[in-house]
Parts: sequence; structure tokens; C-alpha cells
Amino acid sequence: MKKTFALLLAAILMLATLTACGGGDKPADTTGGDQQTQEPANTPEETPEAPEEPAAGGNIGVCIYKFDDAFMTTYRNALEKMLKEKGFEVTVVDGNNDQAKQNEQINTFITQGVDALIINPVMTSAADTIIATVKDAGIPTVLINREPTAEQMAAYDKLVYVGCDARQSGTMQGELILDTPNKGDINGDGKVSYIMIQGDPENVDAQYRTEFSVKALTDAGMEVEELNLTRGDWDREKGQTICANDLAQFGDKIEVVFCNNDDMAIGALQAIQAANRKVNEDIYLVGVDALDAALNEVSNGNMTGTVLNDAEGQAAGAVAEMEKLLGGATYAANEQSVYVDYVKVTPDNVGDFMK
Ligand code: GAL
Repeated sequence: MKKTFALLLAAILMLATLTACGGGDKPADTTGGDQQTQEPANTPEETPEAPEEPAAGGNIGVCIYKFDDAFMTTYRNALEKMLKEKGFEVTVVDGNNDQAKQNEQINTFITQGVDALIINPVMTSAADTIIATVKDAGIPTVLINREPTAEQMAAYDKLVYVGCDARQSGTMQGELILDTPNKGDINGDGKVSYIMIQGDPENVDAQYRTEFSVKALTDAGMEVEELNLTRGDWDREKGQTICANDLAQFGDKIEVVFCNNDDMAIGALQAIQAANRKVNEDIYLVGVDALDAALNEVSNGNMTGTVLNDAEGQAAGAVAEMEKLLGGATYAANEQSVYVDYVKVTPDNVGDFMK
């Protein structure tokens, strides 16, 4: 009796295990794909009519403006992983921050007969040439990270931009300062004195973050004083040098260090610490991207805050739009930008973003 019961129990357990494993007939997932985000963080508002069957597989060429960029490294890794997990053949190339080189890479991809291109332009000003080239070749193209104008994109209906609205990130940086106990006016002289460490000024992300971070302060009725604005080209070392020079020149006058991205903010933090200043006590420091290093510093109180530039969400959005294009979708003029939201990161919510 005991033996029959034990056998019965074993049979039930075996059945339960098989059911939990989906009957064991599922192919083994060797890609770790169950952790991936398949959809962009927010559903694009102006998506075109997508044909019913998105194309499966194909050869995809990905052009990145330069590999040696902290944020774009996270982005390209996410993009490559998602494309491969979906069964695409992917080749990712490094433009080395050289537009002429990237133009050649685009032409090579076209000669090789890729099915679609995903391009992070080296220079926004090259958008017209890039768009004309892919249009001539009839290659469906997703532009990422560096947004051309709506007029430029209107030249080709098999082209879409996936990115973020940089104005939003600038506004959020300003709000991070407004959320501090003295709204950025540490010395109480009635104005917020800041330095601005700018990315590559040719890029709308740099232009809008510079403008809208300060606008958020003035819109809230704060008086502001710009002590210095220097281009740091998104680069950590430049961020450090610029901040060190400004601290030597302006000293305690600096109340806020605005950095257009986190990598420059991490560099600026090194200069702040070397000058024996203390973030959130006698100086504020904000960036954009939510790089792991910046999340750590926000959590440790060494950065006032940052703004999530959602690499995973944008990569997922780029892949989704590319699949629609491969399925034959076209885009109407003025409906060629798909945005993923930025998110403000403060010491209160930083834990939600740390891996
Ligand atoms: C921005 C990002 C920067 C840099 C830049 C490159 O969106 O915040 O860190 O990667 O793109 O274009």
C-alpha cells in the first residue's frame, strides 16, 4: 500500500514537472532572451499602418557614430543583442566620429545588399546626404540618437527616427536643481550661478539640454548667472578638465554644475572632489543618461541626480520600427519621429534603476 502510494506520488510529481516545463518540447533558449524588453518604454503615438506579417530574419547593418562613447556602448550592446535574439544577421560598425568614414560604411552595406540599416549619424548636418543615399538604394532605414529635422526626413518615406525628446531631459535637469532645499541658490544671493559642460554642440541633445535645463529654472522664477559654458564633447576626461579649470577660476561662486551627460559629470565629480567641494552641501551636480557609474554616485550622494536616457527602450523601439519597415510600412511626413520618455533619477528612486 505504502509502495503504491509512493509510486503514485512520484508519477504526480513527474507530471507536474513536465507541465511546468511546457511538456519539454520547447527548444532550449541559449540566448538568455527571456530577460529582454521587446517593446519600447512607451508605445509610439504616430506609428504607421503596419502590415500584418512583419518580416522575419534578414541582414541588418548598424552604423554607430563612435564605439568610444559610454552611453552609445550600452545602447549598441542592447541593440545587437535584441536583433540577434530575433534571428537577424547583424553587423555593427564603428564610425570613429568620422562622417566620411561612416558614409563609406553605409555605401558598403548597400553594396552588400543589407535588408535594412540602423544609423546613428556622426553629424546631424550629414542627414541630407545619408537620407539621399539610403533613398536611392531603397533601403529601409532607422535613424537613432541624433535627430534630423522633420523636413529632412520627409524626403524618404521608408525612414524613421527613434530617440528621445532632448528638451525633456534638459527640463528634468533643471527640476532636479529646483527640488533641492535652496533651489540651487546655495549662497542665498538671489541667483543660481552655474557652469554648463556641454556635449557636442552640433547635436540637438547638447543644444536642448543646455537651453532647457536653465529654462526650467527661469520658468520657475529663479534668477540665473552663467559663469561659463564649455564644450566637453560627451567625454569624461574633458568634463574633468573643464570643471577643474572652472573651479580654479570661479571657486565658491559655482553653485551648480550642469553636464549634458553623465560621463562628463563623472569627470566633473573627480574635479569637485579634488577641490574639496562636497556635492549636495556646497555644490550641485547633474547629468543625463543614468550610466551605472552615475547611478552609484547618485546613490552615494555624490551627484544630485541624473536623467535616464533609456537605451533598452530606444533599442527596442528601433528594432520594432525596423520590423515594420521590413514588412512594407511607410511613414508620412511629420510622423517620422518616435520618442521614448526620459525619467528623472533622484536619491529617492535611484534603487529602481540599479542592476
Ligand atoms: C546622447 C547621450 C550622450 C552621448 C550622445 C551621443 O543622447 O546622452 O551621452 O552618447 O547621445 O550622440
